[in-house]
Amino acid sequence: MPITMKRGTVDSLDEVVLAMGPWQDDEGSVQLHPGDLGWNWSLGTQELADALRVWRRDEEIVAVGMVDDAGLIRLAVAPSVDGDEAFARRLLADLAGIGIVETRRGAALRELLTGSGWVDDERWTPLRRDLTAPVEDVGLRVEVVDDHNVRDRVEVHRAMFPGSAFTLERWQTMAAASPYRQARCLVGYGPDGVAVATVTVWSAGEGRAGLIEPLGVHREHRGHGYGTAITRAAAAALREMGSSSATVCTPSSNVGGVAAYVSAGFQQLPDVADLRRPS
Ligand SMILES: CC(C)(COP(=O)(O)OP(=O)(O)OC[C@H]1O[C@@H](n2cnc3c(N)ncnc32)[C@H](O)[C@@H]1OP(=O)(O)O)[C@@H](O)C(=O)NCCC(=O)NCCS
Repeated sequence: MPITMKRGTVDSLDEVVLAMGPWQDDEGSVQLHPGDLGWNWSLGTQELADALRVWRRDEEIVAVGMVDDAGLIRLAVAPSVDGDEAFARRLLADLAGIGIVETRRGAALRELLTGSGWVDDERWTPLRRDLTAPVEDVGLRVEVVDDHNVRDRVEVHRAMFPGSAFTLERWQTMAAASPYRQARCLVGYGPDGVAVATVTVWSAGEGRAGLIEPLGVHREHRGHGYGTAITRAAAAALREMGSSSATVCTPSSNVGGVAAYVSAGFQQLPDVADLRRPS
């Protein structure tokens, strides 16, 4: 059956998000998630569409890629083509202009890329927490974000990532888009009522792996257990939304991030490297 690749369009975004949901199972590594598209939607609908590459076999979407300005593509691959060598060759042929590939599933593609001389680039640590059992007490006052506290969410976000350009307008763009119908932002408040931590969680539907993206603690409030607390709150929210597990992937160099997730009961999975085109 023929496989075709097309750039994303504004009209196809909802269909792409829906197609990726069932690929988020509890096995193996953590790949590009509908929530990643949801988060990037904050940059603008047209911008997200321009960044997407969509592979179809006949009409069925079988892989999705999201390209950034630096020539990196993050891929999600349907389980049905994970080990398909012909598909992997076709996908590689479509990667002209791409310098780095994030493919945490797609076994056949990883094998093809490494066999073609692509080398390890940045290493990432996937983490997963099973949500069968209830999540223990969070130990922090946590609110779901809506109009009344959205400014706290934006402010904490800007204080957790240096140079962040996140704004209220970006939050509103994200919250109005289809993936956010299965998502939630949380803000955690310290004992004096000051907002100290925030997270956005994304469900991929009932019984599927949910995603944490992003999560953090205000830089002036670190080291008091708020990282562990907001991570537990994120897991509890995903459980409430029907997710089978909570997942996240952070650069392996982010020692504090990995420690906070492990401290909140996440299992650290084997590192996986992005792959860089040979020069
Ligand atoms: C990672 C982050 C959330 C930790 O927040 P925090 O409030 O300082 O974390 P906590 O006080 O709850 O500490 C949680 C655990 O992580 C450990 N930890 C936190 N920062 C650490 C660091 N820089 N190096 C090593 N361990 C660290 C703590 O010792 C603690 O471990 P323990 O429970 O075994 O004692 C915070 O540094 C942050 O917002 N970073 C920027 C955003 C980010 O990296 N987000 C996560 C990846 S998406």
